[in-house]
Amino acid sequence: MYAGKARAYTNIALIKYWGKKNEQLILPMNSSLSLTLDAFYTETSVHFDETLTEDIFFLDGKKQNTKQTEKISNFLDLVRKRKNLSLFAKVDSQNFVPTAAGLASSASGLAALAGACSEALDLDLTETELSRLARRGSGSACRSIFGGFAEWQKGDSDQTSFAQMIPSDNWEDELAMLFVLVDDGVKDISSRDGMKRTVDTSCFYSGWLENVEPDLAAAKQAIKEKDFNKLGAITEANGLRMHGTTLAAVPPFTYWSPESLQVMQLVRSARQAGLPCYFTMDAGPNVKILVEKKNLTALKHFLADHLSEQKLITAYAGPGITLMPIER
Ligand code: PMV
Repeated sequence: MYAGKARAYTNIALIKYWGKKNEQLILPMNSSLSLTLDAFYTETSVHFDETLTEDIFFLDGKKQNTKQTEKISNFLDLVRKRKNLSLFAKVDSQNFVPTAAGLASSASGLAALAGACSEALDLDLTETELSRLARRGSGSACRSIFGGFAEWQKGDSDQTSFAQMIPSDNWEDELAMLFVLVDDGVKDISSRDGMKRTVDTSCFYSGWLENVEPDLAAAKQAIKEKDFNKLGAITEANGLRMHGTTLAAVPPFTYWSPESLQVMQLVRSARQAGLPCYFTMDAGPNVKILVEKKNLTALKHFLADHLSEQKLITAYAGPGITLMPIER
């Protein structure tokens, strides 16, 4: 029996990862930049056990079906291969989110799984190697190895595609991210399917690629200068451009719901009223607002006239992955 456990926090991209160059290795078309957050995390334990006859995956205490377990098994195969191991494993994953609002994240989940496997099998990985391993589970997971700001350098091979910490002089401790939970009745298109369709069919995709590396350079410069308005403006523009690509996909789609648009407009109004804040969105209708801690209360007051407080979750910058040795 080999056992290990890890906790990883989720991250939100300020410069988005959108599109794969290599689906099997999860090599991205572009580099990306994120902020790891404290409010959402996953704890995962793994037991490789000779008595098991198949992999089993529990999420929040519930045994998952074959399809849900397949992604986990594929990942486990990678580490089994490394160690020439043929044991099946039990994976037990617990998502810690402030409310059950569909905010479970593949970034924290797959990063925690990578950490747990590395601990269980004594893989003895550097942070870079752990980031590369997490990337194979879910692209954005490679950034959750690090706390604060992280950059995923796209690279051009398994060896060269990984995330690293961006030096920031702890500026992220002055920032907050406010999640606005938006309901939609629409069936989700996973980030995996959404980015594939966009890369394969969207005539706007080349425009995305042309702009994303300059955006990344500007975002890093803004972090260096601790220039909130600069970082916010780039974050918002980059997110909008990513979402723009989906409108030209065949068939077209969008992650926005009418309520997402209302929240985006509220953020613009808050800015016009003198409150610096900027939004970003991922492969779903929730809106995330980047704001300085010192303006968080004012922003919440501004939003309170339009939104119920239950729809808001506050997050601050979070730490990197923690490996948690367990009894073997
Ligand atoms: O890592 P995935 O497959 O969940 O993709 C994440 C894609 C976005 O959240 C939309 C952008 C990003 O960089 O996190």
